[in-house]
Amino acid sequence: MKKLLFQFDTDSYPSTFDTIVAYDGGADQVISFGGLTPSNITPLVEGTIFTRAPKDKKNTAIFIGGSNMIAGQELFAAVQKHFFPGFQVSVMLDSNGCNTTAAAGVAKLASSGTIAGEKAVVLAGTGPVGQRAAVLLALEGADVTITSRHMARAEQTCKEIKERFKVNITPLEAVDHNARGDAIKNANIVFATGAAGIELLRAEHWQNNNNIKMIADANATPPIGIGGSDMMDKGQDRHGKIIWGAIGFGTLKLALHQHCIAKLFEENNQVLDAEQIFTLAKAMA
Ligand SMILES: NC(=O)c1ccc[n+]([C@@H]2O[C@H](COP(=O)([O-])OP(=O)(O)OC[C@H]3O[C@@H](n4cnc5c(N)ncnc54)[C@H](OP(=O)(O)O)[C@@H]3O)[C@@H](O)[C@H]2O)c1
Repeated sequence: MKKLLFQFDTDSYPSTFDTIVAYDGGADQVISFGGLTPSNITPLVEGTIFTRAPKDKKNTAIFIGGSNMIAGQELFAAVQKHFFPGFQVSVMLDSNGCNTTAAAGVAKLASSGTIAGEKAVVLAGTGPVGQRAAVLLALEGADVTITSRHMARAEQTCKEIKERFKVNITPLEAVDHNARGDAIKNANIVFATGAAGIELLRAEHWQNNNNIKMIADANATPPIGIGGSDMMDKGQDRHGKIIWGAIGFGTLKLALHQHCIAKLFEENNQVLDAEQIFTLAKAMA
């Protein structure tokens, strides 16, 4: 029986990245839809749950992506509202790679040092990856701050994280390199999650900071997020700090994403969001 993955994307055009990883993760056929919202998915979800016999339902699964994390979360919840005992398929949320990227980065940090009890700053943490990185660091026991160029955006992000995950994150405004340098003065862990091609710190902002033990940077598009580091860094020691670059932990991100897709087809009741994906990431790191 063919393994069918239905790719539900909240953007107009479904992510080609997610389509390719879906095939690489073991789907026999990927059927992609764009522009999906809670109000237009009912026939699509019903088609997935009513068609195959109970023992065969594990061969049908749903993947939710798109660039808007909150829209993705709402779609993820709306899909599951259509399920009832005996009639469900496995479902995964990974808007803009948020869960797999953050999980891979935090799992690599956790494999390199202690997170519990440390002060962590997620730079430009208002995007999908930053939000999830902040959550996972907090769930690991760190005292987490996220920065944004706009205080209102940082506050709104922390509020949404609290509603979903019940963890407290501190919002902080940091408008430029110097302000972000100030924001990490007391940090032990820095995770840079700025938009592609945006440098957030120059080398002088972190190299002589003795509080910092570990740094991760998600941005692989030059210029990378952390000046003076390298996107290929794989737990590299630079100035006494352990550095994970975007490609350095991106290998785990891709393997994890593929592993999650494969897992969807093992049973028909998998629900993969941040917590479950992070558990898988830590086992693979
Ligand atoms: N390594 C991997 O395997 C992997 C996988 C997926 C994604 N990524 C990368 O992960 C990073 C984060 O992804 P994302 O989708 O969460 O990012 P995003 O939503 O595009 O951007 C994150 C934040 O960057 C800030 N930002 C945007 N322009 C800026 C500027 N000119 N100066 C300073 N800050 C700016 C914004 O924060 P404020 O407006 O609040 O300041 C924004 O919320 C990206 O670089 C992406 O390419 C890596």
